[in-house]
Amino acid sequence: MAKTQIALKVNGKAVDALVEPRTLLIHFLREQLNLTGPHIGCETSHCGACTVDLDGKSVKSCTMFAVQANGADIVTIEGMANADGTLHVLQEAFREMHGLQCGFCTPGMIMRAHRLLQENGNPSEEEIRLGISGNLCRCTGYQNIVKAIQYAAAKLNGASFQEAAE
Ligand code: FES
Ligand code: FES
Repeated sequence: MAKTQIALKVNGKAVDALVEPRTLLIHFLREQLNLTGPHIGCETSHCGACTVDLDGKSVKSCTMFAVQANGADIVTIEGMANADGTLHVLQEAFREMHGLQCGFCTPGMIMRAHRLLQENGNPSEEEIRLGISGNLCRCTGYQNIVKAIQYAAAKLNGASFQEAAE
């Protein structure tokens, strides 16, 4: 099949590649760029495991073709850690608050939470639950995921995180 040239930015680096028009963005990221952090859960835009940040929006990368990302600026979970290798505050938060079990949903969950906190730096519990409603976790009751996002929001706002009484 004829391939199309695309040029984009991924995790701050310029990428030029040839892709088949039918290649989904998630397959391009995982198979051509070896970025296996974004996961494939459903491939039907339901689970959010494939979520990446694209031009300032959360995108389920199984729902678009790689050619549609031509010119885009993409961040995946691999681009979240700080330049010195320390964890991004959301990564630290998911670890500290036990926001994961098997971890399959975690890269997509963190990428969605990252955008959510850009959209709303101080979300209520309800806003967090609504904000991550496109991302499914099969393992947990979401409680610790919500807590992790609250922890990260508090830290980004320079506040200390207070767990709500249960
Ligand atoms: S794999 Fe993309 S939403 Fe499930
Ligand atoms: S931690 Fe297992 S699917 Fe979310």
